[in-house]
Amino acid sequence: MFSINDFIPSTYLNSIETGQFQWSAPSNIALVKYWGKKGQQIPANPSVSFTLNNCKTITKLAFAKKDISTALNVTDSGFSFDLLFEGKPKEDFKPKIQKFFERIEVYLPFLKEYHFTIDTQNTFPHSSGIASSASGMAALAMNLMSLEKALRPEMTEDYFYQKASFLARLGSGSACRSVKGEVVVWGHQANITGSTDLYGVEYPHVIHDNFKDFQDTILLVDKGEKQVSSTLGHDLMHGHPFAEQRFAQAHENLDKLKVIFENGNVDEFIKVVESEALTLHAMMMTSMPYFILMKPNTLQIINAIWKFRSETQIPVCFTLDAGSNVHVLYPYAVKEKVLQFIQDELVGYCQNGQYICDQIGIGAMLL
Ligand code: PMV
Repeated sequence: MFSINDFIPSTYLNSIETGQFQWSAPSNIALVKYWGKKGQQIPANPSVSFTLNNCKTITKLAFAKKDISTALNVTDSGFSFDLLFEGKPKEDFKPKIQKFFERIEVYLPFLKEYHFTIDTQNTFPHSSGIASSASGMAALAMNLMSLEKALRPEMTEDYFYQKASFLARLGSGSACRSVKGEVVVWGHQANITGSTDLYGVEYPHVIHDNFKDFQDTILLVDKGEKQVSSTLGHDLMHGHPFAEQRFAQAHENLDKLKVIFENGNVDEFIKVVESEALTLHAMMMTSMPYFILMKPNTLQIINAIWKFRSETQIPVCFTLDAGSNVHVLYPYAVKEKVLQFIQDELVGYCQNGQYICDQIGIGAMLL
């Protein structure tokens, strides 16, 4: 297990003038939710997620060593980068990257020596309400680690991925779960070996075949801007009347999931996952100020899933992230039946009938 100090490099022996890398990183969907944080993206409770496969960000990072005397685009603090989204300059993403660079500079001391061109795109539709911060920050972190590896080729693969997750976490908490592995735990949990608040780790214990190839069909209920950002939502857990019980419950649910992952009990899995989703939204509704991110159609879908499940005994359930879209989770074995149900009964609740079929994936990839 690495500590923070392991991520602060000493001098680099290699040097490199120019080059580029390209990585894709997926989105992920939490089963036990992260909601509430301390300090620099230290989670108030541990979380676990399925890594997705199709919803991803693809980011190309080109870099060129700055000629200090003629450097253009040098911002006040000395970082120099251009940001392109789908090939076009995107000024409004820049402050987030600037802040990310400021946070990670101590861990990547070469950042100010280069001019970067960050060229990024998502595989999912623009403003679909699917958060791109997890996949986006993970893809950028992978590219930066590729550059660090070029400067320090002796680094181990383990170090490469764990530091990538550590950096991604500093960009956006849940991004640390989008780096490597099908099921990823982030946050210290006593009986999960190697789990830490600093980065996500591939779930290290037995996972029953029932959970391999799990499907996630994302129903796009409302594609508008969220009214309350997750940054603000996390903040409202400070002084929240139910915070301590909630954080304790997340630990308990992760313990329950550990047993469920091993014995393959899908009915128990459903109870934990749906309860986590509703608890997340219950925290929002009981914050001060309180807010609701679900929409009427979110509830219509939840009720339709419950009715379908009780009538057919097909093990399909839902989860939610910090928005109104519904993630429909189910084993591969029932895919045809569930997709038929979605077509017949749920598409009408989706904005413009849109949904995205995804499934468990393995993490970031060098392209
Ligand atoms: O990583 P953030 O700060 O966008 O927070 C994500 C929070 C949830 O998606 C609601 C839960 C989670 O664990 O992903």
